[in-house]
Amino acid sequence: SKGAALVTAVAQRLATRRKQVDETLCPFRLSQEQLLLVKSRMRAGLEAGLESEGPSAIKMLPSFVYHTPDGTERGKYLALDLGGTNFRAMLVKFRKGLQQSTRLYHKIYTVPPEIMQGTGEELFDHLAECISDFLDYMGIKKARLPAGFTFSFPCEQTALDTGSLVSWTKGYKATDCEGHNVVEMLREAIKRRNDFDLDIEAFVNDTVGTMMSCAYEDPQCGVGLIAGTGSNVCYMEERDAKTQRMCINTEWGGLGDDGSLDDIITPFDVEVNRNSVNPGKQRFEKLTSGMYLGEVVRQVLLDLTRGGLLFRGHVTEALKTPGIFETKYLSQIESDRLALLQVRCILQQLGLDSNCDDSIIVKEVCGVVSRRAAQLCGAGMAAVVDKIRENRGLDHLDITVGVDGALYKLHPHFSQILEETTRLLAPQCDVTFMPSEEGSGKGAALITAVALQKQGM
Ligand code: GLC
Repeated sequence: SKGAALVTAVAQRLATRRKQVDETLCPFRLSQEQLLLVKSRMRAGLEAGLESEGPSAIKMLPSFVYHTPDGTERGKYLALDLGGTNFRAMLVKFRKGLQQSTRLYHKIYTVPPEIMQGTGEELFDHLAECISDFLDYMGIKKARLPAGFTFSFPCEQTALDTGSLVSWTKGYKATDCEGHNVVEMLREAIKRRNDFDLDIEAFVNDTVGTMMSCAYEDPQCGVGLIAGTGSNVCYMEERDAKTQRMCINTEWGGLGDDGSLDDIITPFDVEVNRNSVNPGKQRFEKLTSGMYLGEVVRQVLLDLTRGGLLFRGHVTEALKTPGIFETKYLSQIESDRLALLQVRCILQQLGLDSNCDDSIIVKEVCGVVSRRAAQLCGAGMAAVVDKIRENRGLDHLDITVGVDGALYKLHPHFSQILEETTRLLAPQCDVTFMPSEEGSGKGAALITAVALQKQGM
């Protein structure tokens, strides 16, 4: 019976450990009531942003895009796309025949961290250098093509081809850009090089580009969603017949910057926010996007380890390293096809020595953090589609959402949970999610095409 006592002791230890892990993860598990609250706060935020003249948590920026494409677009355009981590240059050709077709050639350039956080002039000189390289590569340096510029940051626009950066988000911090017309900054950088010429006709947020590229295939598309490094949505606003329809870049990542999400924010989120380059800003984005999910996971693992519940209580240097859990690792760890032994291999690659129990807990932590992210996006999306439905005075709305971003496209569960939550919280809307192909760049080219057609060119 000594043996039996030992077994009971071990079982008790395991049960206590289980209970402590559950307690730690509990605040990440949101109830339907909490999600409905988030939906209504998002809705209130959208309305406040539309109404307010001054700053508001959700910026609701006009895009000067009035129509989705109608399929008659044609011609050859250059598309430039500064996203979360890369800069892409693209040549896009739209052709119209029996079947409309698009041809696309592109090259991806990384933006090194020292450029993201250097001076504005250095950043735009770098972009101009990449464009120059691309034009050489394609052999079109003399062509002077019309160009669309996708810029995935909040900008105050007064026309389709101007935009002043409100504030950097994600990892960017380059100086002398906030408050400046970034289209002009790119034009000046191109002038400084003096080896090619471009006409930048359209300046667009990545959400707007994504919506447009999907609307080219599906006329019911009236919303664009990015679930990637950052998190954001745009939609066609058409409040009343008097005011013209216009696509609004919501910048929904700012929800909560006025404290409205404080009741769901966990101590781990507080820590992630504190260590970020923009503390206090983009609180919703910090709960929902790829740039931050790994950091939330890391904070939870740190806490569990300090409490002796994980990694035998050893807080290693690896665990203390910001950024080790990139989205791609979360996606791998959460894949159902992966055996626990493989999870341990991934952790090993990251410098974390785990046993079987550890790997189960790590997988669980990743699961609750990404599930919450997908549910919050779903709650936000439910607010957006319900608003569109009410704008149009409908009892029932059929709508398509164009989507891009690695979290949506590569994570094993994110898209499904997002879609389920949207359906649950907006029962009067039938929402189809449509992954975009080369979305934001192709969309910028389409917007350029539409703009030039309107000018009669
Ligand atoms: C950030 C940016 C926003 C962009 C999103 C997705 O939230 O502020 O403009 O659309 O990331 O890239």
